[in-house]
Amino acid sequence: MRRIIVHRKVSGSPRVPLAALSAALILAAGLVAAGEAVPPAAALKPPLRLEDTGLYADAATLAVDPRHLAFSPQYPLWTDGAAKRRWISLPPGTAIDGSDPEAWVFPVGTRLWKEFSFAGRPIETRYLERLADGRWLYAAYAWSADGREARLVSERGQRGAFPLGNGRSHTIPGISDCKACHQGGRSDVLGFSALQLSPDRDPGAVHGEPRRFAEVDLKELIARGLLVGHPPSHEAPRIAAASATERAALGYLHGNCGHCHNAAGPLRTVGLYLRYEAGSNVAPALASAVAHPVKRPAPGQSPEALMRIEPGHPDRSALIERAASRYPALQMPPLGTELIDEEALALLRRWVAEAEAPRQKAQLNEKGQIR
Ligand code: HEC
Ligand code: HEC
Repeated sequence: MRRIIVHRKVSGSPRVPLAALSAALILAAGLVAAGEAVPPAAALKPPLRLEDTGLYADAATLAVDPRHLAFSPQYPLWTDGAAKRRWISLPPGTAIDGSDPEAWVFPVGTRLWKEFSFAGRPIETRYLERLADGRWLYAAYAWSADGREARLVSERGQRGAFPLGNGRSHTIPGISDCKACHQGGRSDVLGFSALQLSPDRDPGAVHGEPRRFAEVDLKELIARGLLVGHPPSHEAPRIAAASATERAALGYLHGNCGHCHNAAGPLRTVGLYLRYEAGSNVAPALASAVAHPVKRPAPGQSPEALMRIEPGHPDRSALIERAASRYPALQMPPLGTELIDEEALALLRRWVAEAEAPRQKAQLNEKGQIR
């Protein structure tokens, strides 16, 4: 797998490369030995068994604790066709601060789980927990073949977790890969957001599902007092688009690409903004991709694809070529998938074939937001 340079935020200071951060952590570990006051290391370690994260009310029957809230983002991430279930748990009496609809702030102690199944059987469950110092704990648990219990996977992840055919298999990502996606923007939480939980769900979303019974959405979170400060004008956010195809295409790019390609994270210098942001005059993806030249062609890229998206020409659009590739130097997304998402590709091609050049190019204001 190709290495991606990951940067992360450190309390509002300029972003530092992960390597530097690790060095700082090693330094901090040295200080522990020297008797400095730092938070106990135990709190940073995930439990060894999934059941000890508190997901289940009964570990024998694997009945999920009914106090947790199930949810599903309207524009889900493609993971080679895995079926997913997701839950969130907020500490009793707490609420999410939704004053900024683009970056919700979750209370300390918030836990989130995402379970991945292939061929009807659970393979892995991923876990996030907000720690007392505000950082997030990352963990992945691999299920036993009999589906009875799931155990913590090494920080490096696990290859060969499930065969996908043609010699490929599902890889459980290592923690640095989790962070390459989850720390690529303003919020570590990606699928539990205003747009993703909008009651105005996109019926054209690729791999999207209607909201299942008992899953929470934005409206219910507000009604139950679990989300505070959310601007009333944003109660049913919806991607503004010229057509249903465009709405679904922009939604797909938001859900599958926007966590890396946005104006706030370390990849902002690439200048490709696929995260949808309510309130921008023109969708960032339209302004930064359509009729926009490729910044740096990847090795193996077609010499025909000079533009990220050439309106009317999917075959001459680098964005399409990269979404259609699983050649490591070319493929997008670069992580988390082995198989081409054919259904999404068909939608993106249709959209580009119909696309017109936008009237406006992406411009950033002084805060790095798209105007
Ligand atoms: C390729 C990018 C990518 C990688 C790698 C990745 N995630 Fe995610 N993850 C996402 C996206 C996007 C969502 C939201 C969409 C969805 O759930 O379908 C998500 C959702 C989640 C959720 C549900 C809460 C939320 O943020 O919406 C958890 C928990 C989670 N991931 C944990 C992990 C852990 C732990 C790892 C590493 C073992 C990991 N993820 C690796 C992109 C990624
Ligand atoms: C894990 C982070 C990550 C995700 C997710 C991701 N990308 Fe990328 N992308 C990168 C990096 C890093 C580069 C720059 C290096 C390169 O060109 O390979 C890049 C470059 C690109 C470029 C070339 C831009 C230029 O002008 O040079 C395109 C097009 C692109 N990505 C499309 C996508 C699409 C479409 C998706 C979703 C289907 C996606 N990316 C998801 C990390 C990501």
